[in-house]
Amino acid sequence: MTHSIVFGGSKGLGRVLARQLAGRGDAVSVVSRSEPPQAERAEGASYFQADIADAQATRAALDAAIQKNGAPSYLIFCQRYRGKEDAWAGEIDVSLTASKRVVEYLQDKFAVDGDCGIAFVSSVFGDRIGEGQDISYHIGKAGMGHMARFYAVNLGRKGIRANTVTPFTFLKEESKSFYLNNKELLGLYEEIIPLGRMATSEDSANVVAFLCSPAAAFVNGQNIYVDGGLSLVWPETLARKLKSI
Ligand SMILES: NC(=O)c1ccc[n+]([C@@H]2O[C@H](COP(=O)([O-])OP(=O)(O)OC[C@H]3O[C@@H](n4cnc5c(N)ncnc54)[C@H](OP(=O)(O)O)[C@@H]3O)[C@@H](O)[C@H]2O)c1
Repeated sequence: MTHSIVFGGSKGLGRVLARQLAGRGDAVSVVSRSEPPQAERAEGASYFQADIADAQATRAALDAAIQKNGAPSYLIFCQRYRGKEDAWAGEIDVSLTASKRVVEYLQDKFAVDGDCGIAFVSSVFGDRIGEGQDISYHIGKAGMGHMARFYAVNLGRKGIRANTVTPFTFLKEESKSFYLNNKELLGLYEEIIPLGRMATSEDSANVVAFLCSPAAAFVNGQNIYVDGGLSLVWPETLARKLKSI
């Protein structure tokens, strides 16, 4: 059975992804700091508690996941730093240092047969500069994208692909009511996004699931934007539209 490990699969996008992967028949191991309540779990998935920044706890969680579900085929990084301490140190640690440590620990433990891959969930702020997120988030996400490209080249011979998914702000269970009750903001997104709607966590989960499947067996080192085409619109065009000039 295909074993998929999802860091940050207990909430938001990661939870939707864990449900999708379990639904298609994967053995899913979710690693997060807290264990989600039963009602929020993906049916059939296994849950392991570890802060990815804690090397020892993470290794123990990965060992337990492999013992339970076998060698992994897919490794997905959906975690994001939510700590209250120094944002720079926390973001770099949780997004980059810890992800690198996990890849190095698992790189010779992947399944020997069949398709294998790693997916990093980044953000448009990994490529663009925007409001609402500080420098640490921008740099952490930019680093994730280049980490994927580095591993795509260097782990290819081991049969491990690496790719990035880059979502723009999406509706998730936890944030849905905020956006749906904020008609002005929702209307703005509908106006500026070429597809005329906000994204959902399912939109990004679908792309991660595709990249972590044999259907993407020759896709390596790529970054797929899930932004409804917004990043293609020239900023001046957007500004003129909003100002009606
Ligand atoms: N939300 C958006 O609109 C948006 C837009 C673009 C990109 N993204 C990216 O998409 C990904 C998912 O976003 P989201 O909004 O769905 O995130 P989220 O709801 O905050 O979920 C984050 C997940 O990561 C886990 N996590 C956090 N810190 C961790 C740590 N130190 N060790 C292990 N697990 C940890 C959380 O569980 P615990 O808290 O229990 O640890 C949770 O399962 C993130 O990488 C985010 O940057 C989000």
